[in-house]
Amino acid sequence: MRVILATSNRGKVREIKEFWRDLEVIPYTDLIDAFEIEENGLTFSENAIIKAKAVRKSLLEKGFNEIIISDDSGISVEALSWAPNIYSARYGGVNASGDDNLNKMIKELKAKNVSQSRAYYTAAIAIIDKNEKVYTTHGWMHGDVIDERFGDKGFGYDPIFIPKGESQTLGVLDDKIKEGYSHRIKALKLAKIILDKLH
Ligand code: IMP
Repeated sequence: MRVILATSNRGKVREIKEFWRDLEVIPYTDLIDAFEIEENGLTFSENAIIKAKAVRKSLLEKGFNEIIISDDSGISVEALSWAPNIYSARYGGVNASGDDNLNKMIKELKAKNVSQSRAYYTAAIAIIDKNEKVYTTHGWMHGDVIDERFGDKGFGYDPIFIPKGESQTLGVLDDKIKEGYSHRIKALKLAKIILDKLH
């Protein structure tokens, strides 16, 4: 079965392809040009649905009737009143890079004299099938963020995130270890059950 990812985020595409090896998974940008999608939902699942619908519409206009999968995810930090949450991708400003966002979080933690705080990642996956039916699943990863970066594995906030039960950040830990805790993998496992039923 072929599914189209409504993202061009390379970190996400890599993790999803790696996990769903038995499916043909391709980013929508392999079929059409990338375009801006305004994520104006108030929850991760709303934003995931907005992205999936926008990509489905554009692909249909080009004659592709495909199953679309999207992921909306982010991190929530207790010491920052559980921000940035759904605004994780824009925490360092409009068009901020993963590094800008990470640096902004370190700056905010230091400004509050917090060296470590409870935090969790959330992932919402939206699936739109060929009959326009929408499904969503979720996953979470709990742990702590710290005010110093370690390692360069993973992406985004990973170099400052220590999963519960570990003593090192996801920037240092192996991809395989991240997979065992990952919010996205948990949501993808639930999404796979739905995809298998669509098959
Ligand atoms: P989205 O692409 O709009 O869903 O934005 C996701 C934001 O959350 C980006 O800033 C990512 O860097 C961050 N994020 C989501 N999942 C992860 C992860 O697994 N590791 C690190 N950062 C993540």
